[in-house]
Amino acid sequence: MGAAVAARRAVTAVAAEKIMDKLLIRGGKPLEGEVETSGAKNSALPVLAASLLTSEPVALRRIPRVRDIATMEKLLRYNGASVDVDGDTVRIQAATVPNPEAPYEIVKTMRASSLVLGPLVARTGRARVSMPGGCAIGARPINLHVAALEKLGAKIFQEHGYVEARADNGLRGGHVKFDRITVTGTEDIIMAAVLADGETVIENAAREPEVVDVASLLTRMGARIDGAGTSTIRIQGVPRLGGADHAIIPDRIEAGTFLIAGAITGGDVLVRGCAPEHLMATIELMRQSGSSIECGPDWMRVRKNGKLRSVDMKTMEFPGFATDLQAQFMALMTQAEGISFVEETIFENRFMHAPELVRMGANIRVEGRKAIVAGVTPLSGAPVTCSDLRASASLILAALVAEGESVVDRIYHVDRGYEGLERKLAGLGASVNRVA
Ligand code: EPU
Repeated sequence: MGAAVAARRAVTAVAAEKIMDKLLIRGGKPLEGEVETSGAKNSALPVLAASLLTSEPVALRRIPRVRDIATMEKLLRYNGASVDVDGDTVRIQAATVPNPEAPYEIVKTMRASSLVLGPLVARTGRARVSMPGGCAIGARPINLHVAALEKLGAKIFQEHGYVEARADNGLRGGHVKFDRITVTGTEDIIMAAVLADGETVIENAAREPEVVDVASLLTRMGARIDGAGTSTIRIQGVPRLGGADHAIIPDRIEAGTFLIAGAITGGDVLVRGCAPEHLMATIELMRQSGSSIECGPDWMRVRKNGKLRSVDMKTMEFPGFATDLQAQFMALMTQAEGISFVEETIFENRFMHAPELVRMGANIRVEGRKAIVAGVTPLSGAPVTCSDLRASASLILAALVAEGESVVDRIYHVDRGYEGLERKLAGLGASVNRVA
C-alpha cells in the first residue's frame, strides 16, 4: 500500500471514529463550580475569512478549537494562505490568493462557506464557492448575499452547485437593503465593501455582536466602517488593508448553554470570561422563570431560587432571544411548572430536538413554528440522536437532569461548535463520558 493511500485510510478511520463517538451521561447531579467561556465560533468564522483581505499577517486570538474552525482553516490554506495554529491563537498570512475558490469537498459540512465569497471577490476580483446545501434546521439559501454583491457591481453566475462572482475592475460602493436580516450576509457584504471603490450603505443590517466583532477587526486593519451594531452600516472603501492583532468576543451561545445547565440541574454555576451584555434577553427570561442570575462585567452566576416556572419565548434577531439558544431553553422549560409556548421565527425547521426530548419523557407538541411545552415532566435517560449543533446541546442538558443513563449519539454535531463541552461539564461535576 502506498504511503498516500495509507495516510488517506488513516484519516478516514479517524473521521469514522469521531463520527461514531457517543456521550454517556448519568443525570441527576446539580452542577456546581466555575467554567470558562471559549471564543465565539460565529465570530471566529468571519474573522478568519476577513484575513483574506490583506497580504499582511493577521493574528487572531481566542479562536475555539472546534471542527467548523478547522474546516475554515483548511479552506484558507487551500486559497493560498499560510495558517499557523498555536493554542487558541491563529496566525494567517494571505500574501497572495492563487485559488479564490471554496470547493465542495472542503466546505460540504460547513454552512458558513459563503463567508469567503465577499472577501475573495474583493481581494482578487473573482470567487467560486460551493453553495451550502440545506441542513437539519432549514434550507439556508444565500440569495441575499448574492443580491447584495450584485449591488456592489459583481457579476454572479450559478452552475454545477457553485456560485461564481466576478468583478474584473473591482467592486464599487453601493446601496444594499436586505429584504430580511441575515447575520453572515451582513458580514459578507461588509467584507466585500471595505475594499470597494466609494461608499456602501447597508440597511436592515444584522446587529449581532459577531457583526460588531468583524467590523472591529476590519477597523484595526484600516477599514472605515460606521454603525456596526445598528441596522444601518456605512463603509467607505479603502485601497488596501493591513495586518492586525485581534482577540475575538466570548461565545454567548456557549455561555448561555452553561447558564441553562446550571438552572436545569438546580445547581450553582459561575460562567467566567463571558459578555453578559450579549445575553440580556436570555438572562431576563431565565430570571422570569425563577432562576437567580447575578452578573458582573465578564461573569454570570446562576443559582436555584425555588421552583422553575414556565415562560413563553420567541426567537428574534439580536438583541432578541437567540435562535441558537432555543433548543436549550426548550429543555429548560420541560422542568418548569406550567405551559410554555416556544416560537421559532428565524429558521423553518428548528425543532428536531423536540421528538428526542419527548422520548426522554417531555410533553411537547409542535405546531408549525410553535412548540407547546408542558412541565414539569420528570425525564428519564434514553438513547437519543443529535440532529444539529444546538439540538445536541439541548439533549445533553436534558440528559444532565434525567434519571439514569442517556447515550447521546452523533455528537460530531457538538464537536462542530462547542469546545471541550464534556470536559467543561465534567469540571462542574457532571457524569459525562465520551465513548467511541
Ligand atoms: N436567509 C435567506 N437568504 C439568505 C440568507 C439567509 O433567506 O441569503 C434566511 C435563512 O434561511 C434564515 C434567516 O434568513 O431563515 C436568517 O439566517 P441568517 O443568514 O441570519 O443565518 P446565517 O448567517 O446563515 C448565522 C449563524 C447561525 C445562526 C444564525 C441566526 C454563523 C456562522 N451562523 O447563520 O448559527 O443560527 O446566524 O442567528 O454565524 C449555529 O451556530 O448553530 C448557527 C446555526
